Amino acid sequence: MTQASSTSPLAALLGRSSTGDLVAPAPQGDVLARILSAGLRAPDHGHLCPWRYVVITGEARPAFAEHVVAAVARQEPDAPEKKREKRRRRFSETPMIIALGMHLRPEHKVPVMEQEMAVAAGAMNVLNALHMEGFGGVWISGGFCEDRSLLSQLGLDAPHRLAGFLLVGTPEKPERTSNRPEIDEYVAVWDGWSPVTFGADDRRR
Ligand SMILES: Cc1cc2nc3c(=O)[nH]c(=O)nc-3n(C[C@H](O)[C@H](O)[C@H](O)COP(=O)(O)O)c2cc1C
Repeated sequence: MTQASSTSPLAALLGRSSTGDLVAPAPQGDVLARILSAGLRAPDHGHLCPWRYVVITGEARPAFAEHVVAAVARQEPDAPEKKREKRRRRFSETPMIIALGMHLRPEHKVPVMEQEMAVAAGAMNVLNALHMEGFGGVWISGGFCEDRSLLSQLGLDAPHRLAGFLLVGTPEKPERTSNRPEIDEYVAVWDGWSPVTFGADDRRR
């Protein structure tokens, strides 16, 4: 297969990795606006624009971290103290947090799952745009993302939901390219006649 040139946009896409080891700076001003605009370029059935990004940075982080810890306590009462502390630290110390709100319209003819997928596609665009601008991030979630009181703080009263959070900043270390699956295991060409099989599924049987 032809390789992408090392400076091509495709090479940039192939070189992205998630990382939660993030330091300042996070993107700001026009750069942040352009990165978030990439999210709004995702495919969106019915042009419903279901994405709602809430940016949490600076002094707002420790206050938001306390809301997260309270939500963890409500949603996962058996979670060990260590886990709560980890959430507190991540949400108060990561340079920027972007909540991935979903403005859902259950009454609309476009199925809710497609509305949610548009938000997910937008989030991926944001992660790619961050990487291309020299920043980094990771998408996280958890039971606390279902907590209605936390969602209210983010302007996401029912039926709106939260797809998780992007933790955002500058990668502390050079991005490590994690092992990636082999493309042949996940791609098949249909011959016009017989059902396809995937190498990945054969291997897992
Ligand atoms: C919807 C969603 C939620 C996720 N939640 C978590 C999470 O809570 N914790 C976590 O470590 N990774 C989570 N991940 C996975 C990471 O974002 C990331 O994809 C994974 O660490 C692999 O890194 P990569 O993007 O470099 O392949 C989530 C991914 C998605 C799409």
